[in-house]
Amino acid sequence: MNTIILNGSPKGNSEKCNSQIFAEQFVKDMKNPCEIKCIAQNVPKELAQYVADFDAIILILPLYIHAMPGIVMKFIEELEPATSKGKSIGFIIQAGFIETAQHKYVGRYLENLAERLNYSYLGTVSKGEAAAIYMYPKMFKKVLKLLSELGVAYEKNHAFDDEVVKKLTNPYELSKFKLWLLRLVNKVGLGNIGWHKVLRENDVMDKRLDRPFL
Ligand SMILES: Cc1cc2nc3c(=O)[nH]c(=O)nc-3n(C[C@H](O)[C@H](O)[C@H](O)COP(=O)(O)O)c2cc1C
Repeated sequence: MNTIILNGSPKGNSEKCNSQIFAEQFVKDMKNPCEIKCIAQNVPKELAQYVADFDAIILILPLYIHAMPGIVMKFIEELEPATSKGKSIGFIIQAGFIETAQHKYVGRYLENLAERLNYSYLGTVSKGEAAAIYMYPKMFKKVLKLLSELGVAYEKNHAFDDEVVKKLTNPYELSKFKLWLLRLVNKVGLGNIGWHKVLRENDVMDKRLDRPFL
């Protein structure tokens, strides 16, 4: 099975790109690692023609404002339906918010897309709380290991492993206790530590409460 991995982030193969980290981790322990291409660094039409020669496509994409990046949509519009059976497509969505429930709308679209393209649908893997992976990879060792396990199982079975998918997708929704804890963290200001660091670094801390449109 000849599979191509596509990175759908506008950041392309930058070292700050989580989708690229996901892609590299997915192929890391494969016996014959799949080729990775970045949508951002290719002409959509040419890339669509290129991927048509593969048996399978795995598209890894981030969520920006609950939706897929515009470059992914532009690329999808260039894809032609397969003329014969036997091709397959799967998706890995990664995003910053903890709950993967927010991925379901894009997920439904992607499932329909597979059908419209006459590809078998391999499924959509979701991972939340992924925004900081490129900054603190050591804190995400478990996630990175799961991704390489997903890749190894994919190479063997041409499918996403249910158990690994379940672990990555968790939590779909936060428990009441976790929600309460998060509200507390925000109330005492702990949730602002990271944001305030960025504001200070950019010398705009004193402007953080400005309301220029009023
Ligand atoms: C402008 C912007 C909008 C975002 N919108 C969402 C969102 O709606 N939901 C979410 O979970 N994460 C959101 N994120 C976080 C990204 O999905 C997250 O950082 C992701 O890992 C980025 O992947 P990339 O590095 O591959 O582009 C947003 C980030 C930015 C910068």
